[in-house]
Amino acid sequence: MIKTDVIIVGSGIAALQLARHLQEHLNVIIITKNKVKDSNSYLAQGGIAAPVGVLDRVELHSRDTMTAGCSHQDEDIVKNIIKDGKRIVEYLIHDGAPFDRNGEGHLALGMEGAHSMARILHTGGDQTGKYIIEYLLSALTEKIRVVQGEMVYELVKNDRGHCCGVKTKVEDGSIRHYFAPHVVLATGGAGSIYALSSNAPAATGDGMALAFQAGAALSDMEFIQFHPTLLSMGGTSGGLISEAVRGEGALLIDDTGKRIMEGVHPQLELAPRHIVAERINSERMNGKTVYLDITPIQDFEFKFPSITKMCENHRISLSEGKIPVTPGCHFTMGGVVTDQEGKTTVKGLYAIGEVSCTGLHGANRLASNSLLEGLVFGERLAHHLIGAVKDGASCTAVYQKPNNRGDAPEIPFDPAELKERMMRDVGIIRNEQRLKKHLSWLKAQSLSYKTDLDQLSQGEIQTYLMWVVSTLITQSALLRTESRGGHIRADYPAENNTDWFKRSILLINENHR
Ligand code: SIN
Repeated sequence: MIKTDVIIVGSGIAALQLARHLQEHLNVIIITKNKVKDSNSYLAQGGIAAPVGVLDRVELHSRDTMTAGCSHQDEDIVKNIIKDGKRIVEYLIHDGAPFDRNGEGHLALGMEGAHSMARILHTGGDQTGKYIIEYLLSALTEKIRVVQGEMVYELVKNDRGHCCGVKTKVEDGSIRHYFAPHVVLATGGAGSIYALSSNAPAATGDGMALAFQAGAALSDMEFIQFHPTLLSMGGTSGGLISEAVRGEGALLIDDTGKRIMEGVHPQLELAPRHIVAERINSERMNGKTVYLDITPIQDFEFKFPSITKMCENHRISLSEGKIPVTPGCHFTMGGVVTDQEGKTTVKGLYAIGEVSCTGLHGANRLASNSLLEGLVFGERLAHHLIGAVKDGASCTAVYQKPNNRGDAPEIPFDPAELKERMMRDVGIIRNEQRLKKHLSWLKAQSLSYKTDLDQLSQGEIQTYLMWVVSTLITQSALLRTESRGGHIRADYPAENNTDWFKRSILLINENHR
């Protein structure tokens, strides 16, 4: 049994920002199921949005965030997060974070969809996540213990219902127990439960499922962002083609060279993501191929080195200036409900980064706001935890296996099948019939929220947690009988602005009510 002050599950930008701020004050263990750099943050191409330009303002960035999110947010929450984000990004610039600069030495601010001005800070062209994660890792001291290759599969609570630790499954099948008065989920989103996804394979929604199992409230799970432009490889995807490519002037065209966003939205290629994704999807449904025409961009290879390499690796030649694209799952707007410090509805349990639902993104996230959110909540939670530990929070957990667990289960399906079904039945365009079909399939898998995971392998546990998250997304999508942001219902195509629909759909595990 291992004891510490703070357990952080996951190793993306929010986790590392938190660890960086805590390391002088508290004992911290980071636990990740893969390697420390296997995160969505590391893959981030576009950058970090922040209102640091001469003409920019917190209010303007907030307004764009609200518009992209279909105003499914509280404006004060949005403004405060962006205000803190601006301060943190200015600190990082001052501290020497390696953001790209133009010929005159000024920050090279990029443009992305639904932003009213260029405000995206980037690094190494399209390698922002990699550079920022390396920068944050380099700031960690040996005081932070990093455990790789262990999968957290249960949040342990004490007899007062406080989260007090985690159980992990090691690759060899053994089980370890870690205890701390503060357990932080920073496990990222659930994009990889869809067959077409820009996400790291590890992003399978584990933290959302674990929090739900532990009785924490989740919300907005139906809002899933599909990125318009993943590299299309026939039926599969080769990775993300950053929106920054359209920000630099690339056009979306069909097989005949016709621009497909004309007459669809005044912002054309840079319209909000769900609008562009839906448009590309409908072209593809009609059997057409959609391309990014990159000929308007000078020095493409220099500006987008990792996209160039990705295309080369997949034998897509850039010499004709056309990259075939498809939409794919990119971001989970919903997640574990938190307050503005990262506290969930379960004492001792926290959530930061994409796993959380803080109120910033609403029904659709504005491009490049996620790294910003991770930085803000990593710092905010650090301040809270340092105060809480000074106030004497302690952990009194003695692990007891609860009674009433089901029999040792079998996972009766292949995760690839779940991913295909999510794409087809709970994908970009949804309807009642398909959602119900998927829910029936999930129900038929003879799994339940009480399934005992102790005897399962890491892979089986991951598949089980995907089943939980898939169920939550589908249930929420069925309940929201309207279209809003990242949730598009063919059978309810309009936004419904009556009170019920303006609220978030909350999900709480019946076993904990
Ligand atoms: C992109 O580079 O297009 C993704 C940026 C983001 O999703 O924030």
